[in-house]
Formats: sequence, C-alpha cells, structure tokens
Amino acid sequence: MFKINDNYTKLPGSYLFSTISKKVNTFTTANPGADIIRLGIGDVTLPLAPKVIEALHSAVDEMGTKETFKGYAPDLGYEFLRQAIADNDYKSRGVDIALDEIFISDGAKSDSGNIGDIFSVDNKIAVCDPVYPVYVDTNVMAGRTGVYDSATEKWSNVIYMPCTNDNNFAPELPGETPDIIYLCFPNNPTGSTITKDELQAWVDYALKERAVIIYDAAYEAYISEDNVPHTIYECMGAKECAIEIRSFSKNAGFTGTRLGFTVIPKELKSNDVSLNSLWARRHGTKFNGAPYIIQKAGAAVYTEEGRKQTQEQIDYYMNNAKVIREGLIAAGYSVSGGVNAPYIWLKTPDRMTSWEFFDYLLNEAKVVGTPGSGFGPSGEGYFRLTAFGTYENTLEAIERIKSL
Ligand code: MLT
Repeated sequence: MFKINDNYTKLPGSYLFSTISKKVNTFTTANPGADIIRLGIGDVTLPLAPKVIEALHSAVDEMGTKETFKGYAPDLGYEFLRQAIADNDYKSRGVDIALDEIFISDGAKSDSGNIGDIFSVDNKIAVCDPVYPVYVDTNVMAGRTGVYDSATEKWSNVIYMPCTNDNNFAPELPGETPDIIYLCFPNNPTGSTITKDELQAWVDYALKERAVIIYDAAYEAYISEDNVPHTIYECMGAKECAIEIRSFSKNAGFTGTRLGFTVIPKELKSNDVSLNSLWARRHGTKFNGAPYIIQKAGAAVYTEEGRKQTQEQIDYYMNNAKVIREGLIAAGYSVSGGVNAPYIWLKTPDRMTSWEFFDYLLNEAKVVGTPGSGFGPSGEGYFRLTAFGTYENTLEAIERIKSL
C-alpha cells in the first residue's frame, strides 16, 4: 500500500496567498460588483517592457523555422543569458561569478523551495520572523522543522529570528546555532534592508559556524539607498558560505512569464563536496530548463533599452510605494518599508490583529492587503501593502484608507 509524505499533513492551513484569495472570492460572491483594490500578493500590473515583447516575438519566430528551432535548453540555461547575468548583475558590482555558477530556473519561488533538496534533513534552519512563507513551508514538507505548536505558531526545530520595530526589522545573530540561514533583503514582507557591514557580519558568522546562507535577493532592483548591498557576494568570504537566489518577476514583470536564477559558487563546500555540483545534478535530473523564448526575453532585460524600460517600471512602482507610505503616515499609521522595497509594513490601528485589520479593510474600504501574522508570529499586529498595483488604484486605496 502506498504511503504519502506525512510531512504535508503537518502544514497548518493553506498557502498564505491561497487563503487570502479564497477569502476575497467569498467576499465578492457575497458582494457582487464591489470595487475591490488588490494590494495583497506582490504581483506586478504593468505589461512587459517593449524590448522584452520584441525579444519574445522574435524568439517565437525562431521556434517556427527549422534552422533556428530549439529543443531542450542546456542544463544550466543558455549561455547568452548567463553571460548577461554575470556581466550586469555581478561584474558591474565588482563580483566575479563564473557562468557555470549560474543556474537559470523558472523563478525564485521554485528555487527557494527546491534548494532544500541538496541538504540533509538533519539541518536546523533559521528564518526571520516574519518571513516569506515558502522557506518554512518547504522545510516542513521536507521533514526538517519538527513539531508545530499552534499556540505559539512555531515549529520546534526552527530558529526564529524576530524582526520587530525594536531592531528595525533586521534580524540579530541567533543565540542557538543554525545550519541553514534564510535571509531576504530587501525584505519581503517588511521592506527593510541591512547595510553592507551588517550583511558582512552574517557572512562572518556563517563562516565561523560553518552554516550556509540562502540569500533571496528578489527585490534587489528596488534598492534606492547607498550602502545597501545588491548581492551578498559584495561581502568578503560570501562565496564560501552563500547561495543567492534572484528573480525576473519583480525587476522586469515576469510573474506570469516565469524566470529566475540561483548562484552557487564553486568555493561553497560541505567538507569536500561542492554544493554547485549537487545542485547541477539536481537541476539536470529534475528540471528541463526555462523555455528558450523566455530566456531570450530575460536577456532583453539586460540590453540598454531593456534596462531603461524596466527601470521605468521600478520607478513607477516605487512612486506607488511613496504614495502609500506618505498617505499612511498622514493618516496616522506607523509605517516602515517602501524605500528600498515595494512593500509597506504598517502597524495595525487600535490593537487589531492582522486578520481583524484584513477583514476591516476589505469590508470598509474594499482594499485587500496581507495580514502580517501570515508571515509568522512576530508579524501579528502588522499588515503588508504592495506597491505593485496601478497608480490610480494605489491613490484610490489610500484615499479610502484615509477616510476610514
Ligand atoms: C508576495 O506577495 O510575497 C510575493 O508575490 C510572493 C512571491 O513572489 O511568490
């Protein structure tokens, strides 16, 4: 008789954004015609940049002729894209990343979930609290997190690093030593960042403890301040202790197109075993590559026009972030984020729980956001709004919130 992976049955509830979507659907069924503004999930609203569309069309045409047709992509991804990444994302910041240290994928969510495949189930993970739920949920699926305590909403074998107003939403080095440390900067959900010196302290700590850092830099393109690192490899020694995960979703609007990559430097080893070779083995066996058409579109992001056009999109979203931030502050909310990230993190008013505020905002303002407690216990009493809506909807949402 077959047996299931019991770890899945330990997962409490459904995936955060699925729960929100179900709640909003129930509301719209009960209130047909309600003019709902969705600032919940961080999904982009601007169309793909013209240079990206041009590349997509031309790649589609290539697939239609015998001479230029492409079948399976190379294991690690097409060299033209890996070269563009190595030059633009790394060399331009003084970091040398070899082409065979870059693995093209269908996105950062998949990579941050799948990366656990190459680590023993015995590793202890440390996560920020609040945290992007994928890191914890996928470790639950792998059987790495121990027992869930519904009272504290914590797993027995996970080290939680609270990110609160008191520490500027930046984690402190944990008291208990982890094996795998998940960091995401600029941060989802709080929108916080850390300086290069602060990130260097994490790298030094990981090297000392022989821990590995899984660094999610999906929001790197939103950094506006100096001294905020764009890649963990700006830090000395990071190649020996860090994996970096990147996305095209937020910097180039590929949420529906799917493209991302992971960097694993060859220096990163467990005893003598290189993690790069393990991930290459995993990638080759379990993944058949992002489509040629999409990789061509990704390469177009790095062209001069592509960079200009995608920067305009980022500026548009960051203007939304400013509208949200300033509007909420004017309305008396306590707010952070929204300066180096497309997320605004606010304290719920009148001691409302995160889910109470979610219901209140949906019912009274027809605005959807994300309850902070959905990201972890320290997110209770907080709420996230995304800057990825349209400008008009963002303005309208803030006006509605102000008039509550
Ligand atoms: C979010 O809203 O946190 C993001 O859209 C999730 C994701 O990128 O998967």
